[in-house]
Amino acid sequence: MNVEVGVLGATGNVGQRFVQLLEDHPWFELSAVTASESSAGKPYREAANWRLPVEMPEEARDIQVESTDVSSISDDVEIVFSALPSSVAQDVEPEFAEEGFFVASNAGWARMDDDVPLVIPEVNPDHLHLLEVQEDERSWNGGLVKNPNCSAITMTPTLAGLQSHGLSEVTVATLQAVSGAGYDGVTSMEIIDNVLPYIGKEEGKMETEPRKILGEFTGAEVEEADVDISATCNRVATVDGHLENIWCGFTDAVDAGGAEEAMESLESLDLPSAPEEPVVVRPEPDRPQPRLDRDAGEGMTITAGRVRDDGSGVKYSCLSHNTIRGAAGASLLNAELIARDHL
Ligand SMILES: NC(=O)c1ccc[n+]([C@@H]2O[C@H](COP(=O)([O-])OP(=O)(O)OC[C@H]3O[C@@H](n4cnc5c(N)ncnc54)[C@H](OP(=O)(O)O)[C@@H]3O)[C@@H](O)[C@H]2O)c1
Repeated sequence: MNVEVGVLGATGNVGQRFVQLLEDHPWFELSAVTASESSAGKPYREAANWRLPVEMPEEARDIQVESTDVSSISDDVEIVFSALPSSVAQDVEPEFAEEGFFVASNAGWARMDDDVPLVIPEVNPDHLHLLEVQEDERSWNGGLVKNPNCSAITMTPTLAGLQSHGLSEVTVATLQAVSGAGYDGVTSMEIIDNVLPYIGKEEGKMETEPRKILGEFTGAEVEEADVDISATCNRVATVDGHLENIWCGFTDAVDAGGAEEAMESLESLDLPSAPEEPVVVRPEPDRPQPRLDRDAGEGMTITAGRVRDDGSGVKYSCLSHNTIRGAAGASLLNAELIARDHL
């Protein structure tokens, strides 16, 4: 398989991750990058203030950055990854989808729209059939698929396993890394020696997106899972890796051992970016930790730990790399599923 792909918003935090993860991809070839008007016209090596601790891929260095406009991308490109701010994405992504591109998007807008698949490939791959509903309802020649918000994606695969025990209630408190806010999102004066106990719109996303992802696709729509979720979100002074503390209630009896087994039961997929183990439960009393666990499975494995009985429920912690599993890697995995099953 050889599919030409582009990255919209390629110079930003998540855009750079896309460019990194696409290096030597076995199916996808990066042939277009876009950004704002101030970056357009420059070679990628000049436009992107490269901030990842690996070299910029050779194949990306000389690609000219285009403005984020559907007319600036060649028809040979089949999939575009979107790392645009949501306010920009909501105008631009429909234009790309209408023109025939598959858009694998990180941006928040439209995640909860009835005909937009919100997918974690190991959890709800069948929701991609919403693309057929989308095709009927919108006059698009391509399609739009979303991955969840970075904190929702961290806990949802662990919750997917726990559904087999009648998961009914989730309370979660997050400790989220600064990269989740974008490069200019939080200043050092705000975050050093501090914790910010509020992240705009984040709690609402955590309380709604998992219900859609864990829901059942009926053939025409997704019936949301009947799980009550209550979230509190905090920004902390880590660079990458969102850590979450979670308390779960169930309709069935479950203990910590049963919960660990259920979380680890999520199966891996045979796709290039799929980790061997989507969820790993660590036995040590002081894991997961951002610095030690965010790169598990090349940033695609979710690490859980501290699974304990809690009255009639269980409590635990989990962590994922927010710009890989929580953003660029998530979109890439969605696109691999689309390329394999839907192109
Ligand atoms: N960071 C995370 O962990 C994370 C996780 C999940 C989802 N997301 C979502 O992913 C998206 C990108 O986040 P980020 O952290 O990468 O943001 P970012 O670092 O601020 O990057 C934004 C990108 O969009 C481009 N852009 C900005 N305004 C534009 C405009 N008017 N027209 C065209 N391009 C424009 C920028 O280009 P210039 O360089 O030219 O300005 C840059 O390439 C957001 O929707 C965010 O919510 C982020």
